[in-house]
Amino acid sequence: MKRTLGTCYYPEHWPRDVWASDAQRMVEAGLTWVRIGEFAWSRLEPAQGAYDFAWLDEAIAILGEAGLKVVLGTPTATPPRWMIDRHLDMLAVDAQGNPRKFGSRRHYCFSHEGYKQDCAQIVTKLAERYGRNPHVAAWQTDNEYGCHDTTLSYSDMARHAFQNWLRTKYSGLGNDGDIDALNAAWGNVFWSMDYSDFDQIDLPNLTVTEPNPSHVLDFRRFSSDQVVTFNKLQVDIIRAHSDAPVAHNYMGRITDFDHFDVGDDLDIASWDSYPLGFLEDRIEADAGYKRAYARQGDPDFQAFHHDLYRAVGKERWWVMEQQPGPVNWAPYNPEPLPGMVRLWTWEAFAHGAEAVCYFRWRQAPMAQEQMHAGMLRPDSAPAPALGEAEQVFRELAEAPDVTPYQAEVALIFDYEADWAWSIQPHGTGASYFDLVFDTYRGLRGLGLSVDILRPDADVSGYKVIAGPGLMHMSAAQKAALANSEAQVILGPRSASRDENMRIPVPLPPALEGFDAVVSRVESLRPDMPIALSQGGAITRYRDVMEGGAEVVENTLDGQAAVLMSDRMTYVAGWLDAKAMQRVLRRVCDQAGVETQVLPEGIRCRRTGRELFWFNHTTEVVDVAGLILDPTSVKRIPRG
Ligand code: GAL
Repeated sequence: MKRTLGTCYYPEHWPRDVWASDAQRMVEAGLTWVRIGEFAWSRLEPAQGAYDFAWLDEAIAILGEAGLKVVLGTPTATPPRWMIDRHLDMLAVDAQGNPRKFGSRRHYCFSHEGYKQDCAQIVTKLAERYGRNPHVAAWQTDNEYGCHDTTLSYSDMARHAFQNWLRTKYSGLGNDGDIDALNAAWGNVFWSMDYSDFDQIDLPNLTVTEPNPSHVLDFRRFSSDQVVTFNKLQVDIIRAHSDAPVAHNYMGRITDFDHFDVGDDLDIASWDSYPLGFLEDRIEADAGYKRAYARQGDPDFQAFHHDLYRAVGKERWWVMEQQPGPVNWAPYNPEPLPGMVRLWTWEAFAHGAEAVCYFRWRQAPMAQEQMHAGMLRPDSAPAPALGEAEQVFRELAEAPDVTPYQAEVALIFDYEADWAWSIQPHGTGASYFDLVFDTYRGLRGLGLSVDILRPDADVSGYKVIAGPGLMHMSAAQKAALANSEAQVILGPRSASRDENMRIPVPLPPALEGFDAVVSRVESLRPDMPIALSQGGAITRYRDVMEGGAEVVENTLDGQAAVLMSDRMTYVAGWLDAKAMQRVLRRVCDQAGVETQVLPEGIRCRRTGRELFWFNHTTEVVDVAGLILDPTSVKRIPRG
């Protein structure tokens, strides 16, 4: 597979007479792909059943004949205004009960059957018309599921669909649900929450105080399944008419639906990488850190998602949208330093991307994203990103191929665990994503390449497997880890709930061959870290352990902080960066995995044939004799 570049283009935003010259310039810049169509519904079907494909026919022909490959998006993230009159209740409803109105995008509820039929209709029209078009080389379903908080909807449609989902899950004799089974699973005897019929079950919002966590977890699972069903509807239609691969463009730090489940129905995972927007908007860090990386982005956040979506795509993944300059949507939107667009592009390739497409070709002079840079300015003069993309294109001559690589170290990511933590964090701000991300950062700071794994992944071949915070661990998952060859590191909070979100007895973690249990837990204020005797501290959350496993680290006040039995290490708390590094290093040493503590802002990644180094700082950095210029990338071929 070749490494390729592309861009996101909106022919419907520009006069027809610039399409050909745009296409020509894209080809000259070294671009292979052009993604189009994903928001164009009002121009494809201006009134119900009145289609206009002439302009899209022409645009695809012009782009394709210039030598570009088209990624055709389905336009279902932007239902046109006339449709709202047709389905007054198709808008999603937020947790406060307010409709999420027309006037931007993603204004639909995944459970609305009428809307889904209309989606099936437009996707069928597109697939029939372009499924065999030689220029349409890939498809994208919808746009960024879940973005703008759009997975969960508290509409009437969602309530009915949830009740049916529960009937099936807690099925009794015949097709009817067994309401007693649901009452038992959720523990509804508590606070007299018993139901006598599935029709009585409401969505878990607007309750007086917190709703039953078991109820919420099932609602989160249901909501995720609705996204999977919505996506699959489109994929099945496209596949009936086209052999081109189908992708979806996921977002950064959106965890409300299980991306692995959606990915199972797709050929390629892709995601939209906005390093500077994410630093300001989606990362917990102090002001000094954010200032230091304001023009470069966090050194681990993009890499984490590259590794996550490589797993979601089962090795086939792209960056569908790459930040080219300032975005419009974060609290502050600085320009990247010169060289960063190039660095981000190479970083994606280093993590296995097949394609990196820049968002967008030309900056829009109208509407919500006027303040968002493109590869060209609104007047069509080049913006800084164009030159950096051209540079990457030239450099690709030396390193044209994706070269897959299995890392020595794996990190498990479980979307359900994220929902479980968010339902009962036990302490303000304790988020599963942050815990996993801290672990990822710790591993990368030791110079390691990391494979992210889904919870039921094959774990063979790994020397170290980290599974922090997996609140529910199935018997199969526990067995797979116990039977692997790897050093396994779990905790805190691992296996602390059963599949119904209840505390299991015997007490957690109940791991084969691991002789200790969590006897009590506590969450900690930010200003009450518990110091460890070897330095660093437990913050936010701690498990108090009891049992015979070997204690390898203690708190200053003499409690077990890290325990070990055979190949299993259990971390009884959320470690700060210092302790995290030491504990991870110890596990790696035991597994025979070589580590190297990297300077701040320096990261590396191996591929099958290369070792890449990235300097995210503004200083020249010397890494054991390797000199890395500011905001630079170095590629070292290896045998
Ligand atoms: C993405 C989205 C694009 C555009 C971009 C701006 O989230 O898919 O359509 O809005 O952000 O940064």
